[in-house]
Amino acid sequence: MAVTEQAENPFPAPSVRDTQRYVASLRLSVAPMMDWTDRHCRVFHRILAPGARLYTEMVHANAVIHGDRERLLGFDRCEHPLALQLGGSEPVALAAAARIAADWGYDEINLNCGCPSDRVQAGRFGACLMREPELVGDCVAAMVAAVDIPVTVKCRLGVDEDNEYDRFAGFVDRQVQAGAAMVVVHARNAWLQGLSPKENREIPPLRYDWAYRLKRERPDLPVALNGGIASVQAAQAHLQHVDGVMLGRAAYHDPYVLHALEAAQTGAALRTREELLLQMRPYVEARLADGLSLKHISKHLLGLFHAQPGGRAFRQVLSEGAHRPGADWGLIEQALQVTRDRAERVA
Ligand SMILES: Cc1cc2nc3c(=O)[nH]c(=O)nc-3n(C[C@H](O)[C@H](O)[C@H](O)COP(=O)(O)O)c2cc1C
Repeated sequence: MAVTEQAENPFPAPSVRDTQRYVASLRLSVAPMMDWTDRHCRVFHRILAPGARLYTEMVHANAVIHGDRERLLGFDRCEHPLALQLGGSEPVALAAAARIAADWGYDEINLNCGCPSDRVQAGRFGACLMREPELVGDCVAAMVAAVDIPVTVKCRLGVDEDNEYDRFAGFVDRQVQAGAAMVVVHARNAWLQGLSPKENREIPPLRYDWAYRLKRERPDLPVALNGGIASVQAAQAHLQHVDGVMLGRAAYHDPYVLHALEAAQTGAALRTREELLLQMRPYVEARLADGLSLKHISKHLLGLFHAQPGGRAFRQVLSEGAHRPGADWGLIEQALQVTRDRAERVA
């Protein structure tokens, strides 16, 4: 059977979408990150932050249409509320991809207007679309017409030397007019020449005030802020001005911050890193039984004890052992034990 046939879809759309939970998840989300926020990583983040909105890595619309859907779109039910991030700039293809994703049970379709890589620019999508508000509006309108789940946009403030707030706000307004339900603002420009994608996440200066102003002037538009948010205190401060915060690198390198942030927002009791890690066991064992190698999951766990006594030992045991044939849950227990021992010695 061809991989593109719907009959293979093992994750049908839930019959009743949990709208309230989806709406509430705007307050805290984890950014789409290529090679990082794969399905295993997202299950871990879901355990850390039960109410957060999770985003997939970017997938090009044509890949969704023609590629291996189980590999590109498959997810675990626990990942809801979950958004698929699409790349592309052809309204017809994006609408078809959005329809497929909605049928797979995603809760939101997000269009990438922020990626600055050369490959993406050559394909005329990502951040260079900030200069084509009309085309993006056509893409958004086509997706909105194709699905009954929210369509959203993740964008920058502008590209290269763009320095006019009105141009940025005009871009957003065009997308809202086309039916975008929410905007995620990575609050810096993308410089399309001369910077690597990594430098483009660090060098162009952050201007949170533009996102604040956007929200202030458009109180009905849900706005999530992204870029450089790394602590509970910083996130709480931003939430005085916008509806949501989206964490990227901090969520990956220091994932406990997701847990601390959600606990701060909901008033739930903080659980320990160890308690949270142990919750991964059924998922890890199920995937190992499917034949997956432990390293594909354990690489996402390495930051859990970031800046904690024993944190380096935890990383080391996992990263050295997970590649060995037969590595299983026992390695994670071993890493935990070494971490406890080191922590006790420090105490
Ligand atoms: C490894 C990596 C991959 C990324 N991939 C994507 C992507 O697929 N789509 C996207 O919109 N942004 C992507 N980004 C950008 C993040 O979503 C986010 O906008 C950026 O890292 C700034 O947020 P932060 O300072 O919280 O990390 C990526 C970032 C990283 C570090």
